[in-house]
This record gives sequence, C-alpha cells and structure tokens, in this order.
Amino acid sequence: MLSQLDLATTINRLASEIANDVADLNPVFVGLLKGSLIFMSDLIRQLNFPLTTDFLSVSSYQGTTSTGLVRILNEVEHPIANRHVILVEDIVDSGQTVHHVIAHLRLKNPASIRICSLLDKTARRLTPVAISYIGHQFTDGFVVGFGMDYHGYYRNLPYVGIIKGASENPSAKSDP
Ligand code: IMP
Ligand code: MG
Repeated sequence: MLSQLDLATTINRLASEIANDVADLNPVFVGLLKGSLIFMSDLIRQLNFPLTTDFLSVSSYQGTTSTGLVRILNEVEHPIANRHVILVEDIVDSGQTVHHVIAHLRLKNPASIRICSLLDKTARRLTPVAISYIGHQFTDGFVVGFGMDYHGYYRNLPYVGIIKGASENPSAKSDP
C-alpha cells in the first residue's frame, strides 16, 4: 500500500505540519507502543526543534468492538502537566484506543493534546476522534509493516502492505 519512498514523503510532510504548529512549544511526543515505534522514530528525526519523547503501552481490546476495553499497561514516565502533547499512533481504526488514551492523558493536565497518526482507517470508526496530522486515509483491509503487526508479526517490513483475507475482528489486533 505504501512504499518506503511513500512513507518518507508522508513523514516529511507530517513533520513540517507539526513543526509549523509546535516548534516553539517544547512539545512531548508520546508514542503508543508497539505500533508507533518505527513511525515515531522516523518522524522525530525529521524535526529540528527541542522536544522530548515518552511512550505509553495499551492492551488491545477484546470482545465486541462496540464495548472495546482499552487498558493502560505502561504509564508515561515523565510529567506532562502544562506540556503540549503529540500523541503518535500507527493507525486509528474504531477510534477507541486513542479516545481512551486521550481521556487518560487529560487527567495529567497537559497544555494540549494533538493526535498524529500514520494511517486513518475511516470506515469502521465508532468513536469520533479529531486527528490533527494524518498520513493517509483508507477504508478497507488489514495493514501490516512499518511497525504494524498481524498477530505480532510483520512489524519489521520496511513498507506498509495489506494482508489478503485477514480477519477484521478485534482479536486480530492482538499485540504480543
Ligand atoms: P482502534 O482502537 O480500533 O482505533 O484500533 C487501533 C489499534 O488497533 C491500533 O493501535 C493498531 O495497533 C490496531 N490496528 C487497527 N487496525 C489495524 C491494521 O489494519 N493493522 C494493524 N493494526 C491495526
Ligand atoms: Mg497499536
């Protein structure tokens, strides 16, 4: 779906959009593990201003998508009070993961929270989320590579591919 060149071009664009907004704000980039690992590391290397990084780890939810349960497994390490947060995600699908993470981060009183997602899978959104920086939108299919997994595999692909005939149920999001 996205070649290495596509990804580099996209990340350059996202980096300049983000720089325009927060270059003077000493932002903290919070990556959602594990999917955002590669995206985040490429993204921050395109940013030429002071920033800090942190990570959050959440459980993939189980059961029906409409009652998805998102649990925080690993907390951010540093205080984010009064900081401008860029939440970095690989892909927003139903929207429940980022919705829950934002509610959780808001309790820590950041100055602002903006979402940056490499991919925006629009067709199955259940919870509306405002994504400030979007790499690419698409509707259908289960994607892997560039940090994204299928049952834990394929994160190491340097491009983004679509799995043919992959199950679209939430258990396919398991994240070992
Ligand atoms: P949401 O909570 O339904 O928005 O799901 C978001 C999470 O599910 C992301 O952080 C991904 O880890 C995972 N996910 C959703 N769709 C895909 C996909 O097509 N490929 C790989 N992971 C996905
Ligand atoms: Mg993820």
